[in-house]
Amino acid sequence: MTLSMDISFTNKNNFMEKVNMRILSLLSILITLGYSNLAVAQDCSQIVESNDAMQFDLKEMRVSADCKNMTVTLKHVGNLPQQFMGHNWVLSNTADMMPLSGASMQAGAPNYLPEGDSRIIAATDMIGGGQETSVTFDMSSLDPSGDYSYFCTFPGHYAIMKGKFIIE
Ligand code: CO
Repeated sequence: MTLSMDISFTNKNNFMEKVNMRILSLLSILITLGYSNLAVAQDCSQIVESNDAMQFDLKEMRVSADCKNMTVTLKHVGNLPQQFMGHNWVLSNTADMMPLSGASMQAGAPNYLPEGDSRIIAATDMIGGGQETSVTFDMSSLDPSGDYSYFCTFPGHYAIMKGKFIIE
């Protein structure tokens, strides 16, 4: 009598263990799916590369309107130093890009950026070959239907180093 009770107790434990294992694996699948959906919905960071040929590797950036903050990381994958082939990533209204480029040239080396200029929505540091920098900025003041561009303010670069910043 005692023995049979023990066996049934053990079997019951084994059964519950299996049930628990199944619940756990199901939960882990659901959690994994949930997190990956979240990552897709709120991918609020972008990486853009620049090089010695005065190019960004992205012609445009598409970002989610759900993002409160956006982080842009700029990599300079070339070898030339900042004073010859400096790159930054500056965001403004497209209409402000040319005048802001002029003001940036006047601001001069090494940053080529008019500090405190209200036309600058976001800007990274100016970097040279092998360097990397990033900027995080508030997206809440941007109009999803607005016309925004990013560009490099190193003299002459904005003619090639530019792209549309599209909020969708
Ligand atoms: Co540049």
